[in-house]
Amino acid sequence: MTLPEATSDPKDADITKQVETLAETLFSGALGPNGVVLGITNNDVVADNLRSLVTDPGNTVATYTVGDKLVGFSVAVPIDKMDSTRSSESQETAYIYFTGVQPELQGQGHVGPLMDDMYRKLRTRGYQFVERDSMIENGYADNVEKANEGAIDEGSMYDYDPWGLGMERHFRIDLSKAP
Ligand SMILES: CC(C)(COP(=O)(O)OP(=O)(O)OC[C@H]1O[C@@H](n2cnc3c(N)ncnc32)[C@H](O)[C@@H]1OP(=O)(O)O)[C@@H](O)C(=O)NCCC(=O)NCCS
Repeated sequence: MTLPEATSDPKDADITKQVETLAETLFSGALGPNGVVLGITNNDVVADNLRSLVTDPGNTVATYTVGDKLVGFSVAVPIDKMDSTRSSESQETAYIYFTGVQPELQGQGHVGPLMDDMYRKLRTRGYQFVERDSMIENGYADNVEKANEGAIDEGSMYDYDPWGLGMERHFRIDLSKAP
């Protein structure tokens, strides 16, 4: 798989900086109205990797900006970073590891255009499927289900509590059928 070249455009560097700042903000616990988040607690092992996750060129980082201001970002990793037994699938399947919107801008529907950017970037990189786990209690899983209607592999959908932080719904989404 050939990944797009990194760019030295100063605007992109500024956005990357803003992504790191927002990741650190969410990491520090300023979660906004939607409450506790997967991977964003001070004692969560995966959160320690968040900053490097957004700068690793093997990962896919989507952003949504208004003017020069970052509204939100999302980071996806090849599936074998979540499950090493699936390395043979890692060129076709990505996993959305984390999605974050600025705390003061949450609850205003910004996640839609952010996910549009993520799917565009995943397709450009040659991925055919994306998987994710979304929290059920705050309504996020229902929103993800609605937004991906017709593209979800129903046989791969199940509810579980992967991190001991609350029930989540697992999705496998066919990017060729997704909006
Ligand atoms: C969870 C989070 C990313 C959601 O982003 P948001 O912009 O606040 O989301 P909103 O609740 O405003 O948007 C949901 C709306 O967008 C719609 N939507 C459109 N596309 C969507 C998509 N691809 N995925 C989810 N919702 C989508 C939903 O249907 C919903 O519409 P409605 O308001 O008419 O019901 C954000 O609240 C956040 O950063 N929370 C803290 C971090 C976190 O919990 N991350 C998730 C775990 S990784």
